[in-house]
Amino acid sequence: AGDLSEEPLLQGKKVVVTAGGTVERIDPVRYITNDSSGKMGFAIAAAARQMGAEVVLVAGNTTEAPPEGITVERVQSGQDMYEAVLKHWQDSDIVVKSAAVADYRPKTAAPKKMKKQGETLTLELVKTIDILETLGKQKKGQFLIGFAAETDQLDTYAREKLVRKNCDLLVANDVTAAGAGFGTDTNIVHIYGPEGLVADLPLLSKDEVAKQLLELTARRMNGVLS
Ligand code: CTP
Ligand code: CA
Repeated sequence: AGDLSEEPLLQGKKVVVTAGGTVERIDPVRYITNDSSGKMGFAIAAAARQMGAEVVLVAGNTTEAPPEGITVERVQSGQDMYEAVLKHWQDSDIVVKSAAVADYRPKTAAPKKMKKQGETLTLELVKTIDILETLGKQKKGQFLIGFAAETDQLDTYAREKLVRKNCDLLVANDVTAAGAGFGTDTNIVHIYGPEGLVADLPLLSKDEVAKQLLELTARRMNGVLS
């Protein structure tokens, strides 16, 4: 460190980051979404840019301002997000899936505002495409980073998701812990690799988590397993 002539860690790399919650339409004025703020993903995008990468940020529902020097593609639904990511997938080196994609969406979006009728209303929901799992099945050299926000059994779920989605790293956090999870500026993450738990980071700003995650990623891409 400290050598000014040193090349930035992610120089020449193309990084695709997804952030925020998806919006699944019920009708033109109503939708289903979740508590994701997009802060973690935006912090990762900014950190990747600072480390020299070309960054594409695919953002769902978020109020975060776009970081400097980054192309932001705004999307609504999980399907839109999938299509936006696919456009950049082939020539990307790192894909970071920090978005909170809805698992289910309304089977149909009503073209006009739905009118109030009976005492109960049943919405039929259908499963959305799992973007990360789909990418994991077809990856060719891309370094794939998944996320998992859990309320319980974090270790079990994190390991299961890493394998099922063929991730190179999986970042898990307990959303019930103070200072971690949705909407906060800090996070407490546990990073898993194919070999198991790699790092238990302390309470850090999301900017610092982003930096450490990308440094770990750069080391791993260069074949350093630590
Ligand atoms: N993910 C995705 N597409 C989906 C659902 C999730 O790409 N339709 C990604 C998320 O962006 C995240 C990872 O998969 O990087 C894990 O998301 P999570 O919701 O924790 O996993 P699920 O497989 O949906 O499991 P569950 O919600 O039942 O815990
Ligand atoms: Ca989910």
